[in-house]
Amino acid sequence: MKPKILVTREVFSEALDFLGQHFDVTPNQGDAPMSPEALAKALADKNGALITLTEKIDAALLAQCPKLKAVCNIAVGFNNIDLNACQAHGVMATNTPGVLEDSTADFTWALILATARRVTEAEQYLRAGKWSGWKLKQFLGVDVHHATLGILGMGRVGQAVARRARGFEMTVLYHNSHRLSAEVEKSCHAAYVSLDELLARADILTVHTPYSPATHHLLGTTQFAKMKPNAILINAARGGVVDDAALITALKQGVLAGAGLDVFENEPALHADFLKLTNVVLTPHIASSSEATRRRMAMLAAENLVAALTTGKPPNLLHPPA
Ligand code: GLV
Repeated sequence: MKPKILVTREVFSEALDFLGQHFDVTPNQGDAPMSPEALAKALADKNGALITLTEKIDAALLAQCPKLKAVCNIAVGFNNIDLNACQAHGVMATNTPGVLEDSTADFTWALILATARRVTEAEQYLRAGKWSGWKLKQFLGVDVHHATLGILGMGRVGQAVARRARGFEMTVLYHNSHRLSAEVEKSCHAAYVSLDELLARADILTVHTPYSPATHHLLGTTQFAKMKPNAILINAARGGVVDDAALITALKQGVLAGAGLDVFENEPALHADFLKLTNVVLTPHIASSSEATRRRMAMLAAENLVAALTTGKPPNLLHPPA
């Protein structure tokens, strides 16, 4: 008998076909998000699951899934998975590194440029029929070229963002949990600085750290006060790294000039005041969402699941086997 697996959300047909060659698959092509109760019920008799960042895998859930051996995230971030609980329950957990960094970096640049040059605000004005003609002082933005880019979190995505800054002839500074090798710093044309120096010097600060208890509200009122008043903040990493309520206050008071945000605390229920601000660019957690990349992510997650349940050695295992 084939192992039984659940696919928690809609995926591309090639990933489903591949999984079907190895498993008895319960799909969810209707894409309805599952409540924790529905997820526990659906996983009660399953050996594996292809999951997304909208499913929380914790001890309470795993206690109800005695047959589960692997959960494979279609995402590089894995703050939705409690790895200690997985290890305690003998469940392998995997993510999708190496396939989405370039697309995510591209999108970070879309947010940087859109925020600095007020692209969405100007488009909304035009679409509303308010444009009566060219004006010298219309939608004055801030320059990206030759500015100082601060990168908080210099993993694969942070590095890809840094490499793209060369075209804009920027000064690139970064802060990270550990300093990168001289070779990597050179390839990124980036200099390591303390967090305080990063905050003080960046014209554009972009966040690329994973979310964990250690990075919860890493940026809030205290940190915003250390930034330049004309600085802009970009977050295409995870909600929760930035204190959203504090950011809204900083944007309203002119402590920061603008923000470009793809991720939010408690998404999709983002703080309602964001919608009232004109100096923000807001997108619905789509930084990795080019068609080619989302297809690769789904396939890599499926490959992880097949390897986990057939060999016990998925390529992107997040913790040592229990
Ligand atoms: C998307 O947010 C991811 O972590 O891949």
